[in-house]
Amino acid sequence: MKKIVTLLSSVFILLNGFAQENISIIPVPVKINKNQGHFILPSVITISADDNQGLKTALADLTEHLTIPTGYHATMTNAGSAVIHIILNKSANQELGNEGYQLTVSVKNITITANQPAGIFYGVQSFLQLLPPEIGSNTRVSGIAWSAPCVTVTDYPRFGWRGLMLDVSRHFFTKEEVKKYMIQMARYKYNVLHLHLSDDQGWRIEIKSLPQLTSIGAWRVKRTGLWNEFLPTLANEKASDGGFYTQDDMREMISFAGDRNITILPEIDVPAHSLALIASFQNLSCTQLPYSVNAGFRSPVRDDNALCIGNDSVFMMLDKIFTEMAALFPCEYIHVGGDEAYKGFWSDCPKCQKRMTDEHLKNVDELQSYFVKRMEAILKSKGKKLIGWDEILEGGLAPEATVMSWRGMKGGIDAAKMNHHVVMTPWDYCYLDLYQGEASVEPPAYGICRLTDSYTYDPVPDSVDEKLILGGQGNLWTERVSNFRHVEYMTWPRGLALAEVYWSPKASRNWDDFILRMEAQFPRLDAEGIKYALSAYNVMYTPIRGKDNRSFSVKLSTEIKGLDIYYTFDGTNPDPYYPKYTGELISFPVGATQITANTFRNGKPVGKQVTIKKDDLALRLTQGRHQY
Ligand code: ACM
Ligand code: ZN
Repeated sequence: MKKIVTLLSSVFILLNGFAQENISIIPVPVKINKNQGHFILPSVITISADDNQGLKTALADLTEHLTIPTGYHATMTNAGSAVIHIILNKSANQELGNEGYQLTVSVKNITITANQPAGIFYGVQSFLQLLPPEIGSNTRVSGIAWSAPCVTVTDYPRFGWRGLMLDVSRHFFTKEEVKKYMIQMARYKYNVLHLHLSDDQGWRIEIKSLPQLTSIGAWRVKRTGLWNEFLPTLANEKASDGGFYTQDDMREMISFAGDRNITILPEIDVPAHSLALIASFQNLSCTQLPYSVNAGFRSPVRDDNALCIGNDSVFMMLDKIFTEMAALFPCEYIHVGGDEAYKGFWSDCPKCQKRMTDEHLKNVDELQSYFVKRMEAILKSKGKKLIGWDEILEGGLAPEATVMSWRGMKGGIDAAKMNHHVVMTPWDYCYLDLYQGEASVEPPAYGICRLTDSYTYDPVPDSVDEKLILGGQGNLWTERVSNFRHVEYMTWPRGLALAEVYWSPKASRNWDDFILRMEAQFPRLDAEGIKYALSAYNVMYTPIRGKDNRSFSVKLSTEIKGLDIYYTFDGTNPDPYYPKYTGELISFPVGATQITANTFRNGKPVGKQVTIKKDDLALRLTQGRHQY
């Protein structure tokens, strides 16, 4: 009898374990068949794998996850006695390419096959997502039925460039934090980490022949609070805030990245956004004024943060910088920025004017184009290709440049029409620094990019040959992202949406299904201690102008379907006994100065309660949809 009870209770535990299971892999695989039964992880896990150095990280990732939270043991063995088989194809399976894999989970064993180690790494990531969320824990978890549903998966990416950009200039993030970011990226099959290594607020990479870049350019005065509203540097104030990566640090990060199939794309932003460089070497700007590295304050007069294109020492310095960068970074590209150059100083500068005359350049756009073409020649001489923000189109694109399109898709479309490669990062879909929900309950940001924006965008416009679109990125600028927890908050879950945009077939994109899978990822992120935003669950207020052009009513919405919204105008806290929003526009009752609402699922609050003043809503009438 006791045996029967024990048996029944373990069946109950297993069924309970299985009951909550839906297959929730993000990014959704190309083909996935759910089969009968489950693989139950044995307490001694035997793994066979080809003897290949490239598999080292995938195997370490697999064994750590299968042993630490479970308390089980893993051992390497031969194929005959293993339950987990890691196999590199002897002859390539064309369908899989370099990053694809096949994963079979049967009642008896697991098989992951791929043409290349990258595919095995991704097969491991998908397999781990089939196990209970606690598999991500870095301590032992008891009471879990460690099993995975039987499936066969064939999977490969839509795009070869699936990136996230981290701005380490506006705020510096340590080597260990960047590694942590890469671990998170790799879970969702991102393969490019674009590091924005220089800007007005800090130079972040050691250049051995120019030590001033890091002894001066990497440091600024310490300010805390609201970016753009800080006090400027005071006389004799010590520049103690910042940091940089030594070349040894960077080699370690590059190797860590490579183990996870990630390429680090370095960006040195020139000719503008160059105040850290100019602060280190005063003679490089047109005005040659002395500057210190900007600590996040808005100058009352425009900073001369652009390099003087008439000055030959600028090119000599950049040659030195790119010589060391080309030797350090294995990435085939170097990003030279090129964005948002104020060209007024060039117009007034005798050296720049002389350059324009000598080189027969008609205007300052052509002067910038001349500069970018020279950057391309420098990079080419060092075996690298140039990529830049879409402003590099202005005045004429350098012959072999790749364009990163950020001011919408137009730059990318124009470049592709000229047969240039493109990486898509249009800000209103891909900028992770923007508000991700109702602004009044988010930390300050500029503009808005909601989860739906990221999920529903497609990087290939109709008029463009898909082959020219290498892929895309999510970009995290960090003016207002001052710590790593906030890096995570801004990245996830929009980073989940973009991972699927860049990996999965367009035809399998499905918002409702994505939301179910995203909700299944949250406990995985929790298990790994990763912060994420629930902004998509918050109510959002949109004012709609009345016919009389003076009054307005309010639309309440949320990105997640099926939530109930309850609201109040009297300053008390709404719950399911208050008026329910029906989808119709609502008007402020006479005398009401604010509205408060929250979202509920099955009677329980799931969003943040948000109060907004009528006057603040009225202001939104005059702003574009992406401004608040
Ligand atoms: C950019 O956002 N300035 C590229
Ligand atoms: Zn000049």
